[in-house]
Amino acid sequence: MIGWHEKMCIDHGGLDADHREQHELIRRFVAAPPLDEERDPALSYLYALRIASKRHFAREEAVHRAVRYPEAREHADQHRRLLAMLDDIIQQIEQRDSPFQYGYLKGKADEVLQFWFLDHLARDDLKLKKYVLRPVRA
Ligand SMILES: [Fe+2]
Ligand SMILES: [Fe+2]
Repeated sequence: MIGWHEKMCIDHGGLDADHREQHELIRRFVAAPPLDEERDPALSYLYALRIASKRHFAREEAVHRAVRYPEAREHADQHRRLLAMLDDIIQQIEQRDSPFQYGYLKGKADEVLQFWFLDHLARDDLKLKKYVLRPVRA
């Protein structure tokens, strides 16, 4: 997992704190050993990521409304797709009678989750920066 970088910051406040939390949970999941006996602790990171992401997406969408962000609808659709993808990953890893071994599933999840987070941050979230930092007019 690539480390947190100053360039990933948006508001030096709540959004950044949420992104750092998501980043840290994914980093911990990726760092967990791909062994079956480690499946439950690894899943707990994903459950925490789902809770943190739902809360974060709601917060980010509230910021969109506050700054009248022009791409709010597309961005919210993207959030819904991200949550569906995360649910899919969790379901696959929860399935203990899967024909695929846990180590294989985790390897795929490691790759997908890093992309899941970094691609959305780079392509969508960072566009918010110029709206958030703009002085608010009365
Ligand atoms: Fe977003
Ligand atoms: Fe975000």
